[in-house]
Amino acid sequence: MESSELAGKHLVLGLTGGIACYKIAELTRLLIKAGASMQIVMTDAATQFITPVTMQALSGRPVYTSQWDARMPHIDLAREADAIVIAPASTDFLAKIAHGMCDYLLSTLCIARDCPLLVVPAMNRQMWQNPATQRNVAQIRADGIEVLGPDSGSQACGEVGDGRMIEPEAAFEAICAFFQPKLLRGQRVLITAGPTFEPLDPVRGITNRSSGKMGFALARAAAQAGADVHLVAGPVSLPTPWGVYREDVQTAQQMHDAVMHATPDADIFIAVAAVADWRVDHVSEQKIKKIPGATQPSFNFVENPDILASVAKLPNPPYCVGFAAESGDLNVHGEEKRKRKKVPLLIGNLGPLTFGRDDNEVVLFEDSGATPLPRADKRQLARTLIAEIAKRAPKTGGPLLS
Ligand code: C5P
Repeated sequence: MESSELAGKHLVLGLTGGIACYKIAELTRLLIKAGASMQIVMTDAATQFITPVTMQALSGRPVYTSQWDARMPHIDLAREADAIVIAPASTDFLAKIAHGMCDYLLSTLCIARDCPLLVVPAMNRQMWQNPATQRNVAQIRADGIEVLGPDSGSQACGEVGDGRMIEPEAAFEAICAFFQPKLLRGQRVLITAGPTFEPLDPVRGITNRSSGKMGFALARAAAQAGADVHLVAGPVSLPTPWGVYREDVQTAQQMHDAVMHATPDADIFIAVAAVADWRVDHVSEQKIKKIPGATQPSFNFVENPDILASVAKLPNPPYCVGFAAESGDLNVHGEEKRKRKKVPLLIGNLGPLTFGRDDNEVVLFEDSGATPLPRADKRQLARTLIAEIAKRAPKTGGPLLS
């Protein structure tokens, strides 16, 4: 999905020595595609792993490698940046910034900066676990520097453990999240997304055309806004948004059970899933066969639980937000549905104009009336909706002060 969520942001991206330098080509491409402008700075060691020519081609600007490249580069580069990102950040470089060393251009501009600093460590697991590294990382965090990762898994040296750099997509997501206002910090948000699948027999079932994109975009935006997000997803083939806890389910009953189990821990519940209204009362154990001359199969349907209505009528419900996909007369059906489900906020849209698409147009229904929002891509719209929800939901959670 094309987006311009980093439009207007200028990043200094610093590479230090490590095999993970190969991942930075892809990270740079993602950041540029999202609209960021980039200045690459490399240590000598980094140039052993990926060439400045490659990084210059991807970023569209000459790469800095030395203190002595230009007049006062450490000051000029740091002043222009909205953030400095060090990826990969080697063991040695973490030690340098923990101790305020200024022996490279990159370490000097970290010390000379007046903008946020994010580091993406990458190293062998023993180097990561070394008490000196752990001390340095604790100091870096205490100094207000964001540490993204590391991941766990197989390493270039053949060993397995903590220390590998998070994947470029994850680093990109974490950088995007860093720039978002933390409107839901300390809030716990439960979201349903996607269709449900109601089996008829072991190979067939009833589902619908919900892609899950809107619900996943809301989960991403809520996580970016600092919330603790639990996403209960029907069958969709979408990647889990960065920082979101995901639980996969198939049927409406499973989605209901997962939500009812999670509700006591939620401050906000956003029901985006297109839940099947009915399921068959008896799922055939064997595949239903087409037998020549036999009568056509028939099914009895039973109603599925209404998940949103069940949550909204709990004694202490979270702040509940519903969605309504209608095929016409949105203003009438939207408000009617909000009242029937007894939720404070319902977001209405026209199903055929949104299912499977990357953009959407919605109307907010609440006690005070209906507010249409302009058509926007689902990621941007999700951020707008999260901001609207944050304005309305009661402020709860956050660390308790003793
Ligand atoms: O009644 P309708 O399906 O149009 O209502 C839509 C809203 O109710 C959505 O928020 C949807 O996620 C939720 N819903 C639900 N459980 C159902 C049916 C709908 O949570 N069984």
